Amino acid sequence: MTAPARPLAPGEADALVAAATAARERAVAPYSGFLVGAALLADDGRVFGGGNVESATYGLTVCAERTAVFRALAEGARGFRAVAVVTGADEPTPPCGACRQVLWDQCRDVAVVLATTAGRRETTTLAALYPRPFEFEGPKP
Ligand code: THU
Repeated sequence: MTAPARPLAPGEADALVAAATAARERAVAPYSGFLVGAALLADDGRVFGGGNVESATYGLTVCAERTAVFRALAEGARGFRAVAVVTGADEPTPPCGACRQVLWDQCRDVAVVLATTAGRRETTTLAALYPRPFEFEGPKP
């Protein structure tokens, strides 16, 4: 049974949005021009940011959320409390379906903060955004 997301304190949410905003500034999105930043708060307190990275083939593009997840995992983090996503859109932008699955794989139900560069903010949970995730534990050794 997955533990429900715990809400972030306002200061924690502000710090995570700031990290996602900084990551967005390092996004590589020359084809769409749509810069996205994400930041993950690990259980050990570390914060990992990532921006979207686009490919000339388009289809190999990696979203900001997955960049942040893979960066965090590569740095040895395991277990996460929250994710923030920042875009320059008018409305806060939720993660795409592929990223919802990858976030669920690694974070289970966590707090999700969606923010815009103009200062709009929405707080939700991954379970609310992705209510019936696929889970697979693999064969037992
Ligand atoms: N993008 C993200 O980084 N995260 C999402 O959840 C949705 C889309 C990126 C992919 C692509 O580089 C650009 O936004 C336009 O789709």
